[in-house]
Amino acid sequence: MNKNKLYQRIYLQLQELLGKTQDIDARMATVSAVLHHKLGMVLWTGFYSLKNGELLVKTYQGPLACQILKKNTGVCWSAVNTQKTVIVPDVHQFKGHIACDPRAKSEIVVPVRDKKGIIIGVLDIDSKVLDRFDKTDAIELEKITGLLFL
Ligand code: SME
Repeated sequence: MNKNKLYQRIYLQLQELLGKTQDIDARMATVSAVLHHKLGMVLWTGFYSLKNGELLVKTYQGPLACQILKKNTGVCWSAVNTQKTVIVPDVHQFKGHIACDPRAKSEIVVPVRDKKGIIIGVLDIDSKVLDRFDKTDAIELEKITGLLFL
């Protein structure tokens, strides 16, 4: 199945699933499970929340992850600080990348915004293959994170 079609299916599925509760933790858990099992070639899928100036791990699927990310370091902080999605084709080329799992080779991090547009955390997806994520992933994952606070 092509990537656009896959994302279309995932979006529709999540739209229906997220309609069952407004609870943000339940919604994030649902998004990470669906993405992790539907996207393919992913190692880790989950959320970090921004609280009191710290990025703390929330719900995720995959191997054990770092609980706290060192401030202003790595890909997740880069997405928070630039307020933009960050695509990293090769994590070893990203200065300051935080390797929670040595198998991770590429990564995408999407800022998560609340109803007011304020960044409250990030969606982070890691892959075992190089160059796993592109502009389509960025656009579609931004749409999906946009469902969290609808
Ligand atoms: N690689 C991330 C840290 C989180 S783990 O990938 C789950 C970063 O550099 O911010």
